[in-house]
Formats: sequence, C-alpha cells, structure tokens
Amino acid sequence: MHPFPDGFLWGAASAPHQVEGNNLNSDFWAHEPLMTGADRSGDALDSYHRYREDIRLVAESGLNTYRFGIEWARIEPLPGRISKAALAHYRRMIEACFAAGVTPFVTIHHFTSPRWFAEEGGWRSERAIDRFRSYVEATTPILDGVEWICTINEPNMLAIMVREAEAALDPESGQEWLSPTLEADKPRPVKPAPPVEIGRRLSEAHHAARDVLRARTEAKIGWTIANRAFETRPGAEEIRRELEYIWEDLYLEAARGDDYVGVQAYSAQWVGLDGIEPHPVRPDNTLVRTAYRPDALGIAVRHTAEVLPDVPIVITENGIATDDDARRIAYTTTALESLAVAMRDGIDVRGYIHWSLLDNYEWGHWDPTFGLVAVDRETFDRQPKPSLGWLGSVASANAI
Ligand code: FCB
Repeated sequence: MHPFPDGFLWGAASAPHQVEGNNLNSDFWAHEPLMTGADRSGDALDSYHRYREDIRLVAESGLNTYRFGIEWARIEPLPGRISKAALAHYRRMIEACFAAGVTPFVTIHHFTSPRWFAEEGGWRSERAIDRFRSYVEATTPILDGVEWICTINEPNMLAIMVREAEAALDPESGQEWLSPTLEADKPRPVKPAPPVEIGRRLSEAHHAARDVLRARTEAKIGWTIANRAFETRPGAEEIRRELEYIWEDLYLEAARGDDYVGVQAYSAQWVGLDGIEPHPVRPDNTLVRTAYRPDALGIAVRHTAEVLPDVPIVITENGIATDDDARRIAYTTTALESLAVAMRDGIDVRGYIHWSLLDNYEWGHWDPTFGLVAVDRETFDRQPKPSLGWLGSVASANAI
C-alpha cells in the first residue's frame, strides 16, 4: 500500500477541440475536410454545452481535479477581436468546478489555434509570439482563483502536428493524415522528430505566456511534455541522448524555473543503433498501436526529474486506448505503482490526472477510446465505465 501526500491532485483531463464540438474558427476544424484520412469532429461530445455534466461526473466519482482547456479560436475568432461571451463561458466552467469542489487545471493552448493564426503562418510566423502573448493577456481576467495553469500542451507533439498537417494539406505529398498520437497500421518509417525550429519558437511562446501569467495571476505556471520513455539497447546511449534532446529535453529545459512540469506518458520505446525502434506488432498493443507499457509512467517521471531536479512534477496525462475497461484498470494500476516507487525514491510529484475523462475525438480519429466515460455520439448520453469509479476510489483512499 502506497499512500500519496495530502493535497495530491487526482483528476481526469479533456481538451476543447476533442470534446466541445463545432469549433468552427479553429485551424483543425478548417483542415479536417481537406486532409485525407481524417474523421470530422462535428458536434464532438457537445461538452461546450454539457460541461456541467462532465464536471459532475468528476466530482461524484471521488476525483478532485478536472483538467480542461480554453479555446483560443473561440476567445479570439478574429485577430484582436476578443469574445466576451466566450470568456464568460470559460469563467462559468471554472466556477462550476469551484462549486463542485473540483480543482480546475486550465490549459491555455491544447494543439488548436484560430484559423486566422494558421493562415498568417501559424507557429512559423514571426508574429506568432506577439499573437500568443496577446491571447494570453486576454484570458487573465477569467483566471482568478485558478491554482494550476498549463501554457501549452505537449509542445513537442504540437511541433510534429504542425509538420504533419502541412504534409497532409499539400496535394503533392500524397500523405494521408495520421495523428501523431497514433502509430500507422502499415509498415511506415518511425515518425520523424519534432522540428527543432518550431520547438524553439514554442519555448519562446511558453516564456512569454509565463511572464504574463505570473504578473497577473496567483497560479502555478508550467507546460506539459509528451514523454517517450526511451529505453536503450547496449551501445546506443549516445544515440538515445541525441534523440531525447530533440524529442523531449529541449522542451524540458524550457521548463527550468517553472512552478511545475507536466509529465504525459502512455508507452515506452526502444532506441537501438539505428535509432528509435518501431513498436513491435503484438496482440496486446493498444488501439493506437503502441506497446502495452504501463511502466512508461515511472520511466518518464525519472527522466524528467533527472533533467529538472528542482521542478515539482504533475502527471497531467496518462492512460490507454482500449475497448476493454478491465485492461484500463490494470494498466492504470501498474502505472500508478511505477509512479509510487519513483515517489518513494524521492521524486516530488503533486498529482495524477488521467487521460481521458471521456471517449473523445482523437485528432482526426474516433476509433481509439481513452475515456473513463463512454459517450453516445447521437444522444450525447454519458455512461461512466467501471474505471471511473475505480480511479475515484483510489483518489478517495489517496493510496494505491
Ligand atoms: C496526447 C494529447 C491528448 C490526447 C492523448 C491521447 O498526446 O495531449 O490530446 O491526444 O495524447
């Protein structure tokens, strides 16, 4: 039995474009019909209107934290034009959390940007930092009382997403859309690393946002990094270090001086003399075709603490794409055990937030289901799975 510290955050997560529906002014919405192989998000789970029900599910399960995002494309549908109604909507979400006794963990940017921002050149544009900074400034009036803010979710995955969308939108490339969170079902080379120039731009954007948020809010500010949980074949240590730098450490280093760093881990991957090895095709692979590696969480936490020994960690995402909920419970149990052992070794971890609260839109794909709750996409009826009650009981016991 491993008890977690008092005040430990136990939560579930979502992201606006994946759950809200009809995110009409966003770049992803604009790109969906143009990218071969991408499903449309459509009404998604209608969480834009049903957020009270989502928050109630979190609160009633025994969890104490809801991580959700606010959507830039709704708040600033045209450059410099701030929607007071959209801001008021997100303030209502924050207040609904307070009223339910749930800690809101707010993400300012979770992969999607306004369509106009993408048309202007997106993260590659010289104006990107100023644009992002003024969006962040516009959000601060609604963040009163919020204790935890993530500036940008998974900048390393976002950098890949930018490049993959460019390729899928280019008719010459013949490349189908495949979310960077999925592995291909046919042999295909391992995904190229996140483009470093975008990584550096995003790091600058994170620092600009951090300055604004520190000056105007009381919240703890950080960003959340996708961890690959690399393991090394004999002799491949140097190759791993190089890969780790462009995949992760560039982004972890930009978190020096932050109030916390978010660790997001799903699977682990081997690095050999030829680089990253594709996930072996095995019957127990997840629905996103990654290896079943619940121990990835412990590996990711240890690597993060090695790079950032002085920055507290929050697990801001961890979960599994499966249609077998018993397997979700088994996966999460082992993941939490690997986390507990790392904490026993002295690593400072402040919370565990599961991905995801709901079966949602996996960036162009509806098939992989990560949710603690199933959703009927015709009626939007929410059906909690046993894993929700199970994770809630772990939270109530504050022990695994
Ligand atoms: C992460 C994303 C999240 C979801 C999960 C499965 O990379 O932050 O939106 O796609 O993976």
